[in-house]
Amino acid sequence: MSADMNEEAGHQQAVFDQAVDEQPTAVKQPHRIVSPRVISISSGKGGVGKTFMSVHMAAHAAKAGQRVLLIDADLGLANVDVMLGLHSSGTMQNLLTGTTPFEELIVHCPQGFDVLPGGSGLYELTSLNVSEQQTILDNLREAGENYDLILIDTAAGIGDNVLYFASASETALVVLTPDPTSLTDAYALIKVLSQQRGVRRFMVLINQTDEIDGHITFKRLLSVTDRYLDVYLDYVGHVPQHLSARRAIQQQRLLNDNDPALRPYLDRLFDHILNRPRDASRSGGLQFFWEHTLSAGLDDDTTDASDRDDTLQAQGAL
Ligand SMILES: Nc1ncnc2c1ncn2[C@@H]1O[C@H](COP(=O)(O)OP(=O)(O)OP(=O)(O)O)[C@@H](O)[C@H]1O
Ligand SMILES: [Mg+2]
Repeated sequence: MSADMNEEAGHQQAVFDQAVDEQPTAVKQPHRIVSPRVISISSGKGGVGKTFMSVHMAAHAAKAGQRVLLIDADLGLANVDVMLGLHSSGTMQNLLTGTTPFEELIVHCPQGFDVLPGGSGLYELTSLNVSEQQTILDNLREAGENYDLILIDTAAGIGDNVLYFASASETALVVLTPDPTSLTDAYALIKVLSQQRGVRRFMVLINQTDEIDGHITFKRLLSVTDRYLDVYLDYVGHVPQHLSARRAIQQQRLLNDNDPALRPYLDRLFDHILNRPRDASRSGGLQFFWEHTLSAGLDDDTTDASDRDDTLQAQGAL
């Protein structure tokens, strides 16, 4: 964290503390974070279930009364609107060119949450430049006031947009499967986010597996991150593989509320994630992290020969 950020965070805290202290004793409130919780959902390897988890977590939180915005940040390969069968009146590109205001792009889903659609086949969106990132953040910061929870479904891999959205979030949730390439790629994502963007804490979800394999997979990942990286991994759980997930996606709908195979796992998992305490050190809102991301981006190309050696050794260990 830069000195400026420390100072700014300290200032915000002091203002908040003072406001709390000035309240009459009878109504004195405990410290609480008022900005929306922002969770990015990413993976090293594609096709592991990020979008499936994102749309179901959005619906779960909305059902519990939260005001939820789901952002399809897999720009260039829209996922969310296809999965939900939505018809959007524009794409993120309209936002960037200023032709459609943010509120008109938002789709209100019947499941009770809002979606900001990504945009399909738009190659130019696959790597946003700094001013495009700023435009999106400005819009999100303003819109953020209307939401309790913002979920960001990113593309797979370690592309610029992924690093940008994941490091601008309060929480980075990494999804993987027990498949060895998924594990290796998850490690690569965590490594790049920690070393280039200063992300230290990650939630980890293992999809398409049973309880035992989920634990084994998490332990394998943990053994190499503990050895090579300075990060903290929080295992939030596993979801079994079941045909009903594929069926729902094929029919462009969510799982049934009473789906016996997956619903209990998903509900428990999402409660778990959403009831985790807020991370006060990373919850200053998107703009706060925008500054963080900018300064962290300065030493983007820090990968040197010894780094690569570490990666190869870590991959061997996985
Ligand atoms: N637990 C599960 N059991 C069975 N199939 C699943 C499960 N979770 C996801 N799937 C299926 O895996 C496929 C890929 O899921 P999804 O599109 O959510 O992955 P993704 O990580 O978002 O992919 P991409 O990287 O391309 O964006 C979908 O057909 C989905 O139905
Ligand atoms: Mg996806």
